[in-house]
Amino acid sequence: MLTKLNEIKVRAEELLQEAVSIEKLNDLRVKTLGRKGEITLLLRSLKDLSPEEKAEMGMAANHFKMQLEEMINKKTEELKQQEMEKRLIAEKIDVSLPGLPFMRGSKHPLTRVYEEIRDIFVGMGFNVAEGPEIELDYYNFEALNVPKDHPARDMQDTFYINEDIVLRTHTSPVQVRTMEKMAPQLPVRIIVPGKVYRKDDDATHSPMFQQVEGLVLDSRITLADLKGTLMHFAREIFDADLKVRFRPSYFPFTEPSAEMDISCVICKGAGCRVCSHTGWLEILGAGMVNPRVLEYGGYDPEQVTGFAFGMGIERIAMLKYGINDLRLFFDNDRRFLKQF
Ligand code: PHE
Repeated sequence: MLTKLNEIKVRAEELLQEAVSIEKLNDLRVKTLGRKGEITLLLRSLKDLSPEEKAEMGMAANHFKMQLEEMINKKTEELKQQEMEKRLIAEKIDVSLPGLPFMRGSKHPLTRVYEEIRDIFVGMGFNVAEGPEIELDYYNFEALNVPKDHPARDMQDTFYINEDIVLRTHTSPVQVRTMEKMAPQLPVRIIVPGKVYRKDDDATHSPMFQQVEGLVLDSRITLADLKGTLMHFAREIFDADLKVRFRPSYFPFTEPSAEMDISCVICKGAGCRVCSHTGWLEILGAGMVNPRVLEYGGYDPEQVTGFAFGMGIERIAMLKYGINDLRLFFDNDRRFLKQF
């Protein structure tokens, strides 16, 4: 029986040496120490021995059983440790590898152009004001001296919500809203960015577009201030040596009224397709604030004068970047947007 125990011992120690994985160690555990394992069976067969032999063999077998258990546990721990180290090595990060490409967004060209416009006027002491896109007929038309039968009110152009409420057709209503808040304080120097709506839809007109309005009020504002301010603006946003001209025009809320042209940014005035061979491009409407509008706003036209202007951001952006179709701004095709 002792020989048998020795045989088991020798084989078990061999197997222990050879075991290179936790599974192999488990096999060994089952084979020797398991319910039907060699040592378990050996211990069970002791019952046939004499009491002295039983005691001696029992001690030897139990001793070995404990030893083996301990050795298997120890080796299992070692292997676990080794596996962990291998895993850590495999998981190591090479920080010198190039990173994954990261798609960066960019500002929409209309946002960029608006921010440029804003910065030029803020640089001249203007503040930014805003107003609602869903507007009362009163502010959009009435208080701007647009008579009830004026063609601009035509159902053709204006989105009506009901008889008294419209989608604003321009940012000019914020002129009157600002005057109401400010009067009688002076000076007033604001620009008003925002979306406006008209029943229009082709390559150069969209039912929604954006404007920047301007309003300046003080005690001695003249047409010269209007011209100087807007010429400075045009030269900042386009080209330091472009020419400007003011053509007489008509808006119910300004008197006199004008449209400002700049020398064509494409052909520099020589004449090309973009400027319809005139050498000039219209970029905004403007004028001296009509005394009736000052009254609606709460200012005394005997004491206060001012000028106002309005421009389309899309139009400025099209001229600045040489874009020939307005709809490109609203399609949000990344190949287009990526270029800005
Ligand atoms: N509101 C006018 C338009 O939308 C532009 C404008 C603003 C003209 C202020 C004069 C003064 O066409």
